[in-house]
Amino acid sequence: MSAKRLNIAVFLSGGGSNLQSLIDAQRENYFKSSIELVISNKKDAFGLQRAKMEGIDNYYIEDEEEVIEMLREYNIDLICLAGYLKILSKKFLNQFEGKIINIHPSLLPKYGGKGMYGLYVHEAVLDSGDQISGATVHFVTEKIDMGKIIIQEEIDIKNEKTAIDIGKKVLKIEHKIYKEAIRMIEEGEI
Ligand code: GRF
Repeated sequence: MSAKRLNIAVFLSGGGSNLQSLIDAQRENYFKSSIELVISNKKDAFGLQRAKMEGIDNYYIEDEEEVIEMLREYNIDLICLAGYLKILSKKFLNQFEGKIINIHPSLLPKYGGKGMYGLYVHEAVLDSGDQISGATVHFVTEKIDMGKIIIQEEIDIKNEKTAIDIGKKVLKIEHKIYKEAIRMIEEGEI
């Protein structure tokens, strides 16, 4: 079966290193799909600048109805959350059921759920004494961080002394597996 070419929208609130990893993967033809749109709920998110520099249409939008309109306008098939710190409404999730994926910086179901984002995740991992962490790409459902897992990869963190160090190591895994998840979806493996 040949891979589908999906129109992707990336949603973010911050630096957008995951967006950058997807842009780079697209450039290298790692997947067939195309990042058509970047949306941020934060006006000053550096991720918007990254999109601009790559010539990808990008918008700062807070209102969900406006976001939905934009997604329709661009015929978006897949929404990739990449550090998007806004909870999507039930209505939104229903409209795009099975078409929203997220990257999370832990081995879900561990260290997921409300309040578990950014450094909070890595601090919790450090406090637990776990020797292994990792990243997970999963479908987004109403239950935060509980949707079906698409791909997950572990990394040894026993030599990492701080939450920041763990985060840096995990981020490298994120950049590796997010593009893999997209390829799996477009190839119909999921
Ligand atoms: C990543 O750690 C991602 O897992 C989480 O938010 C962070 C975003 O980083 N959901 P970046 O903006 O892609 O650099």
